Amino acid sequence: MENIHPIFDRMESRAEKERLLGHRGAVVWFTGLSGSGKSTLAIALERELSARHVLCRILDGDNVRCGINAGLGFSEADRRENIRRVAEVCRLFVDTGIVVLACFVSPTRELRRLAAEIIGAADFIEIYVATPLAECERRDVKGLYAKARRGEIRDFTGISAPFEEPESPNLRLDTTGRTVEASVDRILQAILPRLSVPEKNDRELNPKI
Ligand code: ADX
Repeated sequence: MENIHPIFDRMESRAEKERLLGHRGAVVWFTGLSGSGKSTLAIALERELSARHVLCRILDGDNVRCGINAGLGFSEADRRENIRRVAEVCRLFVDTGIVVLACFVSPTRELRRLAAEIIGAADFIEIYVATPLAECERRDVKGLYAKARRGEIRDFTGISAPFEEPESPNLRLDTTGRTVEASVDRILQAILPRLSVPEKNDRELNPKI
């Protein structure tokens, strides 16, 4: 539907929001199997970014599916709708200058392409958490792999539904045998240049801003 009310002309622009915050908005999109470490990394990354005065928001499949996406399951169509809505929400955050840490299995290239298209390629940083299935299953933090193996969960990614590896992610990270800190360091190296975070935030340089 066309938006016929041109309020966008009067709203503050993304550039104004980014100036206020002192960094660019972007989406750090974590893709990988359930239990690969996406949310753990995002939580640790959020802390590091906050310490650098970067305003972040974590969006996570388990949480979003209890709220705006309650009622969506794991069929191909539902996963697509899940990712479409989440990408639209990411877009709103990016337009507010915020850095979104999006943790979604997003198991197919088509789904990730859809997300990148909605968000905009320039604002989409793809991190493939490439922890192998055997390791995710060994961890089985939520006990879901055991259930999937027993046939109690249908269409479970990696067991009874596909996961297609990203072809050219911005970063590929296998968390096996790596500390969270070491992984987060790699991610920071990959993303900080994209956020153009100044050495010191403008507000520290000039407390009157
Ligand atoms: S996505 O495929 O649509 O991107 P999303 O990241 O939102 O998935 O949700 C994945 C989480 O839902 C998993 O971490 C797991 O906890 C839970 N889950 C429940 N059923 C499934 C399933 N069939 N396949 C994958 N994850 C599932």
